[in-house]
Amino acid sequence: DHIIVAIDGYSSCGKSTLAKALAKKLHFVYVDSGAMYRAVALYFLRNNIDLQDSRQVADALKKIHLNFHSRDYETHITLNDEEVSGEIRLMPVSESVSAVSALHEVRTEMVKQQQRMGRSKNIVMDGRDIGTAVFPDATVKIFMTADPKVRAERRFKELAPKNPDITLEEVFENLAHRDYQDTTRKESPLRRAADAIILDNTDLTPAEQLMFALSKVEP
Ligand code: C5P
Repeated sequence: DHIIVAIDGYSSCGKSTLAKALAKKLHFVYVDSGAMYRAVALYFLRNNIDLQDSRQVADALKKIHLNFHSRDYETHITLNDEEVSGEIRLMPVSESVSAVSALHEVRTEMVKQQQRMGRSKNIVMDGRDIGTAVFPDATVKIFMTADPKVRAERRFKELAPKNPDITLEEVFENLAHRDYQDTTRKESPLRRAADAIILDNTDLTPAEQLMFALSKVEP
């Protein structure tokens, strides 16, 4: 039987850093579920999809084909065969993705695709609802948290090189806004699965987090 590691938590908690390191160490496939929502949000932005119009949303979803090609445990995602891994990290997408990911039609389709990816392989998947909605029977579930200020600083360091005008305050606000939307939406809101292990990494190095996670996957 294959193993599924579900890593959920707030935005910029270090989920993807841990998930990638874990997948690499264990030789599992890494799936960045947030990248899928971001790619959908990018398509919606480019095509001016009206989020209130469920017909438009459903039609758009039929035209979206996402693919991961994970050659090096980084996120490489294509949207209709175009590499969009860089563009999905920019502010326009970050600002619209929570509203897009709150849509029922969008979640239903993404969850279906995510479940398909976990059917045949050992995987580490990170996101917001992996342990609750996508894989309620995951082998190991980790729920990550960290101090909001530390999270904003980490994200700022990541974004600043590619977004010269960005400020720490903006990043903090964007995170707070996404947390609010992610935890209050009707469709599978972000919450800890009852059987998820909590990992607060405010004061932990990536190596320490990896040790912790490995000890849970290979007790
Ligand atoms: O993980 P990341 O910050 O890239 O995710 C972008 C957004 O996608 C999140 O803010 C959240 O709104 C949405 N998301 C989600 N469910 C997931 C993963 C991401 O709703 N499993």
